[in-house]
Amino acid sequence: MLDGTDDQPIEGRTFPPPADFARTASAGPDLAGRAAADRLAFWAEQALERLTWAQAPTETLDWSNAPFARWFADGTLNVAYNCLDRHVEAGHGDRVALHWEGEPGDARSLTYAELTHEVKRAANLLLSLGVRAGDRVIVYLPQIPEAVVTMLAVARIGAVHSVVFGGFSAESLRARIDDAGARLVVTADGGWRKGAVSPLKAAVDEALAVDGDSTVEHVLVVRRGGNDVSWTDGRDVWWHDAIETVEAEHVAEPFEAEHPLFILYTSGTTGKPKGILHTSGGYLTQVAYTHSVVFDLHPETDVYWCTADVGWITGHSYVVYGPLANGATQVLYEGTPDFPAPGRWWDIVEKYGVTIFYTAPTAIRGFMKSGREIPGARDLTSLRLLGSVGEPINPEAWLWFREVIGAGRTPIVDTWWQTETGAQMISPLPGVTTTKPGSAQTPLPGIVVDVVDDHGTPVGNGESGLLVVSEPWPSMLRGIWGDPDRYVETYWSRFGDRYFADDGARRDEDGDIWLLGRVDDVMNVSGHRLSTAEIESALVSHPIVAESAVVGAADETTGQAVVAFVILRNKAKTTQTPEEAVAALRAHVAHQIGAIARPRSVVLVDELPKTRSGKIMRRLLRDVAEGREVGDTTTLADTSVMSVITAEMR
Ligand code: PRX
Repeated sequence: MLDGTDDQPIEGRTFPPPADFARTASAGPDLAGRAAADRLAFWAEQALERLTWAQAPTETLDWSNAPFARWFADGTLNVAYNCLDRHVEAGHGDRVALHWEGEPGDARSLTYAELTHEVKRAANLLLSLGVRAGDRVIVYLPQIPEAVVTMLAVARIGAVHSVVFGGFSAESLRARIDDAGARLVVTADGGWRKGAVSPLKAAVDEALAVDGDSTVEHVLVVRRGGNDVSWTDGRDVWWHDAIETVEAEHVAEPFEAEHPLFILYTSGTTGKPKGILHTSGGYLTQVAYTHSVVFDLHPETDVYWCTADVGWITGHSYVVYGPLANGATQVLYEGTPDFPAPGRWWDIVEKYGVTIFYTAPTAIRGFMKSGREIPGARDLTSLRLLGSVGEPINPEAWLWFREVIGAGRTPIVDTWWQTETGAQMISPLPGVTTTKPGSAQTPLPGIVVDVVDDHGTPVGNGESGLLVVSEPWPSMLRGIWGDPDRYVETYWSRFGDRYFADDGARRDEDGDIWLLGRVDDVMNVSGHRLSTAEIESALVSHPIVAESAVVGAADETTGQAVVAFVILRNKAKTTQTPEEAVAALRAHVAHQIGAIARPRSVVLVDELPKTRSGKIMRRLLRDVAEGREVGDTTTLADTSVMSVITAEMR
């Protein structure tokens, strides 16, 4: 068994809600019943109770032009007002909104009153640069308070932001600028990453220099890294200079509920990223609702920390809009988890007394690799709830998270959702659900999902299939920017009136949902459906394994065959030969899942190819496993890793 877990087998272990949680949970036990009794009335109630509307909506859902939904369409509101001013008006101006921690160790806390003040000035600054309602603004910033301020200022004036993660190249940035037709780019000179300044302004310059004219009129530059930048007079504007010249007051004007709020680019099955479009009222309703009930938020006392970058959907919904709509106090951290030392995250938890902590399985497995001593040396007793998002969390990582980080007492919420869904869709409710390590379990009250076979027929308990969302939901994407046909084709052509999520899922004997990864990660070996995630989970449950990635490689006999890429724990490398390790792991998988899942080959590697957001790029591993030339590696965090793996395979 792994460090920090006891010797009980994982299978079948469940964790009933702790009594103290159940007593005060913001999701009462009747929530699901109320939603089931009248789903649309339930959502209308959430919209009216959780948000402040200029004009309260009387309509809930208009699905007459399906799959283009309109939610709360006759209502009007200002999203930024909902995240800021109303909390100040309610007497919470002195509550800290953001505890920001810079990577070099500098820190800054902003109250709701201060954040409101900053956003008002930034809104005036955007207006002074010619940005108007409906215009698109690209945000290419490090994880600093100005990123949050900019997003809210854009929303406040009814413009549309498109945040591009700071790790993307100039070329990707330009593609997004062009697709969105952006008028303004907000960036910084540079941001801190692993002890050095990584330049951002230079990438914007490069992006705007290629391919002739762009739609961009101005580049607004925040000073953060202190690095030298080149300057284009007339186009480039220093934030700190311009902000001094604008008025402090700005009155938020209401916009229609279906007014566009943001575009966020995400990769699809083709090479061209999709600009996922989200709008205002429905989106804000569902992020506020889920942030409250899934995290059991008590805004007066909790200190919440979601480690996602604002460049991803998790950062949009659970760093910016959800927590701020709910008046939460949260931590925002600029840097990487391991700088200057592997305990940095736990130092931050200790420093701010974080109570709710939301992160990704890949990070958890990284911490498992470096050992329990590191978190063990910090005081993490403030933590009362842990959350996971982004990929299936294997039961071993789930248990390690609970026992080592959560001292064996914190509930864990494994939240399934997507850029497209805008907000969480499937998750246990803390204080209500008896949790099962590795399963996201049940759709949230108000959400209707199903697991179906290739023909769209629901599968029974104990069976696997495809995940669909059966009914429209308030924070659903409203389309793909500039490409309505692609929207219909990508998500709605397979099962007609149901949204196809591209994920495989299994219902267990209790009907609970287990996510099996993207459908293209599901293998078919001798006619048996096998999940890469399931085999990875089996591998990681072996004590010598730190991390693994499994792909299905074409095989003459069995259709596909299982190929596993494995990183061993350091200690394991000294106690056995590579041959012994490979043999042990093949036998282990066969033992855990069945002979059908036994990997044809296990390749021992030192690194796995990951995107900058930490997702394993199985496509590249499949290329290696099938002996092909390795494909496009431009989105890899470390592009050299593939040549090393290819060499190791030979
Ligand atoms: O495959 C699912 C996986 O991440 C995909 C969505 O990725 P993205 O749009 O980048 O959004 C990530 C943050 C919400 C899904 O199709 N995924 C997300 N959460 C989970 C998950 N897989 C399993 N369990 C989860 N909790």
